[in-house]
Amino acid sequence: MKTIVLYYSRTRKTAHVAKTLAEEIQADTTEVMDLKNRMGVINYLGSSLDALRENKTIINPDTYDLSEYGLIYIGTPTWAAKPAPAIITMIDKCDLKGKDVILFSTMGSSGGLKAVERMKEKVEARGGRMVNSFSIKTGGKAIEDINNETKKISEEMDLKIYGI
Ligand SMILES: Cc1cc2nc3c(=O)[nH]c(=O)nc-3n(C[C@H](O)[C@H](O)[C@H](O)COP(=O)(O)O)c2cc1C
Repeated sequence: MKTIVLYYSRTRKTAHVAKTLAEEIQADTTEVMDLKNRMGVINYLGSSLDALRENKTIINPDTYDLSEYGLIYIGTPTWAAKPAPAIITMIDKCDLKGKDVILFSTMGSSGGLKAVERMKEKVEARGGRMVNSFSIKTGGKAIEDINNETKKISEEMDLKIYGI
């Protein structure tokens, strides 16, 4: 069965991780768009609150047909040590029964593992099984460094093996 990487990204860092990963492991990708304005200082605070409270948001695509995929990666930026609202919203729209799931987060400095832990609970509630996870620190890093770290993690964790 095929592999897909589902991700949300506000400032493209998680997008770079997702796309580099997808190239490494030969996976499809789908970007989850948050239709709420998340840019600017005021929206930053509102976004942190939304993440903390796990407020749902409006996303595009609105539905996710994962029937042709056996392995699903889900990636999120860390917001207030939580997954971004777009990812919380997306997971609740997915049927993950019988699916293997690999979770990842990006973070400025800390809280990425907590975000993964929360995603794991949400994924399990939808019938999925987390088989691996990782978190990447992006603070102060150039895109090239983020991409190289993604490749290194993919090799070290032997991620290709999960898709077979
Ligand atoms: C609303 C908001 C809250 C954030 N909260 C955290 C946090 O709790 N811990 C952290 O290390 N980084 C935090 N960050 C930084 C992002 O997690 C980090 O820059 C991430 O790599 C951005 O990914 P993106 O470019 O895909 O949006 C926050 C960023 C935003 C916009």
